[in-house]
Amino acid sequence: MTEPAATGRDGDARGAGRDGIPLVHAVNVHKAFHGNEVLKGIDMDVRQGQVVCLLGPSGSGKTTFLRCINQLESIDGGRIWVDGDLMGYRDAGGRLHHLTDKQVAAQRREIGMVFQRFNLFPHMTVLANVMEAPVQVKGERKTEVKERAVQLLDRVGLAEKADAYPGQLSGGQQQRVAIARALAMQPKLMLFDEPTSALDPELVGEVLTVMRELAASGMTMIVVTHEMAFAREVADHVVFMDAGVVVEQGPPREVIGNPQHDRTRAFLSRMRSESHDG
Ligand SMILES: Nc1ncnc2c1ncn2[C@@H]1O[C@H](COP(=O)(O)OP(=O)(O)OP(=O)(O)O)[C@@H](O)[C@H]1O
Ligand SMILES: [Mg+2]
Repeated sequence: MTEPAATGRDGDARGAGRDGIPLVHAVNVHKAFHGNEVLKGIDMDVRQGQVVCLLGPSGSGKTTFLRCINQLESIDGGRIWVDGDLMGYRDAGGRLHHLTDKQVAAQRREIGMVFQRFNLFPHMTVLANVMEAPVQVKGERKTEVKERAVQLLDRVGLAEKADAYPGQLSGGQQQRVAIARALAMQPKLMLFDEPTSALDPELVGEVLTVMRELAASGMTMIVVTHEMAFAREVADHVVFMDAGVVVEQGPPREVIGNPQHDRTRAFLSRMRSESHDG
């Protein structure tokens, strides 16, 4: 087994998950599509309450890795634990057995995911979108879910839009609803895959503000982003991936502020020339 990468900084005051291990513990994760190896042994630890920003060029495997954590993809090698649970498998005396679809679905419910595109149900109001999964998937009582959904919409600054339909909202507002919808399931972990990259520039800030507040509230988050200013400010730990491997990782002031590898430097200078946040 590969030695897990050290994570956390500033004395690592934040806690670990069950059994003292990190909330997310990924070891030597491999994934190939039709013989094309996309993840070539990814190790990653994320402690409870930590925000990890995942950077890397297009095609480096960032989305695939998030999808593996969430079991939207099965992995070909390695292990991923979330809060002590081995994802997708049951370990019976060293032999792995696939979990049933139902068991996988139960694991997946603990993880919220926000994509580039919001994928809200267009025929349902904002409030109904946020309430849908807890009621339909978890079978929670509507009155309780509604109370929580209203609070969540307030938290993302959209209390007054509860009865609107997604088509009546801006992209930034829709993305904030998508975050509220994911939070309604009370996840242990939130995965964000370039949540602002489909937005008009003037709408990016409001979504990042919601994410910043979520991070400050102690949510454990893995964020794929090209927003370097956000990563520098909010991430506890930055992981730079290229071609299916982790090239470099550490605190943002090191990885972004003083990268050690040529590939990281090349990527960051490309990002700088494409964006305004330097
Ligand atoms: N379902 C799939 N079938 C075949 N190949 C895939 C599949 N999903 C991803 N890939 C390939 O895996 C590689 C990594 O893709 P991935 O989407 O994880 O990259 P990424 O780092 O998220 O890139 P981007 O920044 O463009 O979103 C790419 O070469 C991609 O074409
Ligand atoms: Mg991607």
